[in-house]
Amino acid sequence: MYTRFLILKGKIIMKKLIAPSVIAADFSILGKEVEDVKNAGADWIHVDVMDGHFVPNLTMGIPSVQALAKNDPPPMDIHLMIDNPEIFAEVFIREGSPHVKLLTIQVEACTLLHNTITNIKSHGVMAGLALNPATPLNVLNQVLPMLDVVLVMCVEPGFAGQQFIESSVGKIKELRKIIDSMDPADRPLIEVDGGIKLDNIKRVSDAGADVFVSGSGIYATDNYTETVNEMRKLIGS
Ligand code: DX5
Ligand code: ZN
Repeated sequence: MYTRFLILKGKIIMKKLIAPSVIAADFSILGKEVEDVKNAGADWIHVDVMDGHFVPNLTMGIPSVQALAKNDPPPMDIHLMIDNPEIFAEVFIREGSPHVKLLTIQVEACTLLHNTITNIKSHGVMAGLALNPATPLNVLNQVLPMLDVVLVMCVEPGFAGQQFIESSVGKIKELRKIIDSMDPADRPLIEVDGGIKLDNIKRVSDAGADVFVSGSGIYATDNYTETVNEMRKLIGS
């Protein structure tokens, strides 16, 4: 299980994580944009892979992940918004190696869920499962203890810069309750993705989120370091 706590002088400090979504970066200088958020203190980089089938957009694929892996990036949090992710999971882990920290698939796109999650974890990579806004939490019933991360989509997947869906806060609160009732050793992290910005990150953190993906909430601001620091202050981490 991913260590959710930092032990500092014997005291447990819950560290919340910030993961800029590079889809919102300036692709003409992608290497520099990743370097800049790394220097701004980002914990991970969130890489949105889209196939034009599962979502009506086509973004980055294997060559982009290979290129990102060349420049010693922050740990990569790869979000596969693709049909049949079981076919590509291993390829992305291999081509992004050794920087792939987390590989997240969409529950709506994967029929062979149990094996796909097991396969991701067999590579020493955290396994995440993403739920679209309309997907109920009960899809997690059989697999929750297997997961390292549950990704709560706060927008309909496909594009950066969309409006945060307010009902996500209630969904995160409900998921927090479910996870907190689990054996601590089995508890996955709650990651949130879509429309996360300075004006809502505290509410989402208070609802129980642990990892915050933010694309335009960081890349559309003038100073990434100031934005990330401001986010950290708001989430108390
Ligand atoms: C949406 C992606 C998100 C999105 C985040 O399909 O999964 O990662 O790009 O961008 P913002 O934070 O601008 O909504
Ligand atoms: Zn994403």
